[in-house]
Amino acid sequence: MENISKNKLPKHIGIIMDGNGRWAKKRGMPRYAGHTKGARVFRKIIRHCNKIGIQYVTVFAFSTENWKRGPKEISVILKLLSDYLDEAEKYAKENIVTRFIGDCSVFGQKILDKMAHLEKLSSTSTGLILNIAVNYGGRAELVNAVRLITDSAVKGELDVSGIDESVIESHLYTVDQPPVDLVIRPSGEHRLSNFMIWQCAYAEYVFMDDILWPDFNENHLNAALEEYSRRNRRFGAE
Ligand code: IPE
Ligand code: IPE
Ligand code: MG
Repeated sequence: MENISKNKLPKHIGIIMDGNGRWAKKRGMPRYAGHTKGARVFRKIIRHCNKIGIQYVTVFAFSTENWKRGPKEISVILKLLSDYLDEAEKYAKENIVTRFIGDCSVFGQKILDKMAHLEKLSSTSTGLILNIAVNYGGRAELVNAVRLITDSAVKGELDVSGIDESVIESHLYTVDQPPVDLVIRPSGEHRLSNFMIWQCAYAEYVFMDDILWPDFNENHLNAALEEYSRRNRRFGAE
């Protein structure tokens, strides 16, 4: 880690926090126990990213497809989110900017108020910008962008010939943020699962097969950064 020069560090890391259910199952525990441990790991890894000077991290916490899970599992995940929000003040003090991406309108007013409170409280922080993706789907994000853009075009505020990549980007949840440079996914699955499909167009992928998210630690993150620093990114050039 110490050997990686600053310009070889990713600006924006996406983390697919996967493997909680399998971690719990391996221990004879209910799936939700894995989420509880995973939530603690999330806090540790975010602090580490802030400490080493990463500018943006997006964590995939709950997908638009995860509603297919059982009611108990879903309620535990929502409770963990609510507990995290209750610690809001502490996170603002740690100089981390927190934002929520995804269709949050499905959450109850209590959660929405806590989210707004944390976003406001942390908005003046100058450290890591953390996007927490909840009820997030890359396809749903693009559908939302298409609706907003179409609406502007219908109202005559935008000329159709003026729709380009920057217009689309400015209607995504990640407006004004750089694209994802590095995606880290533990647990052995080698897929995006609808995570940031636009923003990851030129990302590097580090799939870590031998680790489940609840066992993930700072050394794994550092190993992914080292792997990333060795990649040769060409963006289509020769
Ligand atoms: C990731 O862990 C967390 C969420 C999807 C909320 P999983 O719950 O997907 O764990 P596995 O993949 O079943 O082991
Ligand atoms: C992706 O993991 C979503 C999160 C980590 C929140 P999943 O476990 O839901 O993805 P699949 O079903 O294995 O593709
Ligand atoms: Mg999974």
